[in-house]
Amino acid sequence: MTAIGIHDLELATAHHVVDLTGLAESKSIDPAKYVLGLGQTEMSVPAPDEDIVTMGAAAALPILERNGTEGIRTLLFATESGVDQSKAAGVSAHALLNLPSSVRVVEFKQACYAGTAALQSAIGIVSRNPGERVLIIASDVARYDLDSAAEPTQGAGAVAMLVAADPALVEIEPLNGIATADVDDFWRPNDSSTAIVDGALSVSAYLDALTGAWNDLAERGGPGIDEIDRILYHQPFTKMAKKAQQRLAEVTGAQLSTALSENEASVGRETGLEMGSRYNRRLGNSYTASLYAALAALLDHDKGLAGNRLGFFSYGSGSVSEFFTGIVQPGYDERRDAARAARMLDGRAPLEIADYRELHGAEYPSAADLETSRVTASPFRFAGIRNRARRYERS
Ligand code: HMG
Repeated sequence: MTAIGIHDLELATAHHVVDLTGLAESKSIDPAKYVLGLGQTEMSVPAPDEDIVTMGAAAALPILERNGTEGIRTLLFATESGVDQSKAAGVSAHALLNLPSSVRVVEFKQACYAGTAALQSAIGIVSRNPGERVLIIASDVARYDLDSAAEPTQGAGAVAMLVAADPALVEIEPLNGIATADVDDFWRPNDSSTAIVDGALSVSAYLDALTGAWNDLAERGGPGIDEIDRILYHQPFTKMAKKAQQRLAEVTGAQLSTALSENEASVGRETGLEMGSRYNRRLGNSYTASLYAALAALLDHDKGLAGNRLGFFSYGSGSVSEFFTGIVQPGYDERRDAARAARMLDGRAPLEIADYRELHGAEYPSAADLETSRVTASPFRFAGIRNRARRYERS
């Protein structure tokens, strides 16, 4: 059987950053609650001329520069912060990236799970025709109400992936475990720009979904926990990955390290929890991109992974979840560069809390024409709205 998986992977984020210590202090909350209690130090915030399209195209551009467009006939755009009810955001990214008209585009939605739905669909397309490659963009802006408990778990980011036969980074294995349940833990009605969330329910729904997906994988003859070297989780906030690791240890009876920082004592087998959290603790929640930002962080920092099996847990509220596995390919480390992501994260422009609050409140109704101010340093920008349609341009 042809090996199919992730051939290339790139991360992008928004122009601004909010420091969570400053955010906590502005509310007279102990910063340790955000930094240790949630495991978050910063969150990315888009400028007025950025959105899921500009971040997604910025993530995809280096992939196309490195790999060209040959064989790409599909662009799958995963998001839950869609900018139109009808047109796929990926069509605008397709134009910005000058992709050929022979590339079909479609948008995938199921909360944070949609990136994984796109990955599995891409694998299906490539297995039908191993000469094809599929470009995936997973891009999101996580927004909750100001002063809500969920506010420090906002964020923004995009991951682009090229899925191909004989992949250079990670071969995705065919077996998976799935758990779907109709639950009102988190959703965003059509007339709201912020998500509605029952925080406690969302945490327990996530953990129950992990149990369900793991058990389904086990029943289908998947690898045992001892055959999985590293484990990556969807990270709405990085402490959630620690809770997930604790649950997986309970379900499997394995001793797994739950150390989320380099200072924490590690008891049990090391599975990459800390390394896999390095980008997410600075991005905040990037919804569909979060699990794959964890993969980028692990591949960038863990240098001895060739031949190792990775476990992936993808959760999308509502809810759909999946546990699947992949094998890291020899030579992956020569293709990864941790300095690139560090430059991107360090290069964000800090926002004062008052400015962040003002930006959060800004609405862009599509009823009137609008020209956005020029802020972003990204190669692409959201120029505004004309005749009720969103306009994008190269910066
Ligand atoms: P909260 O009210 O801040 O919760 O809401 P808390 O008071 O329980 O505090 C959080 C943690 O900080 C606790 O740790 C406290 O002990 C600790 P835990 O007991 O959980 O280990 N703490 C401190 N630690 C150190 N020093 C201190 C201190 N004070 C407290 N001084 C909640 C937290 C996550 C519920 C909230 O932020 C929220 O609603 N977030 C949004 C929902 C969310 O992220 N849910 C996660 C699962 S659902 C999911 O992943 C899907 C999602 O990505 C959407 C999608 O799929 O599309 C969200």
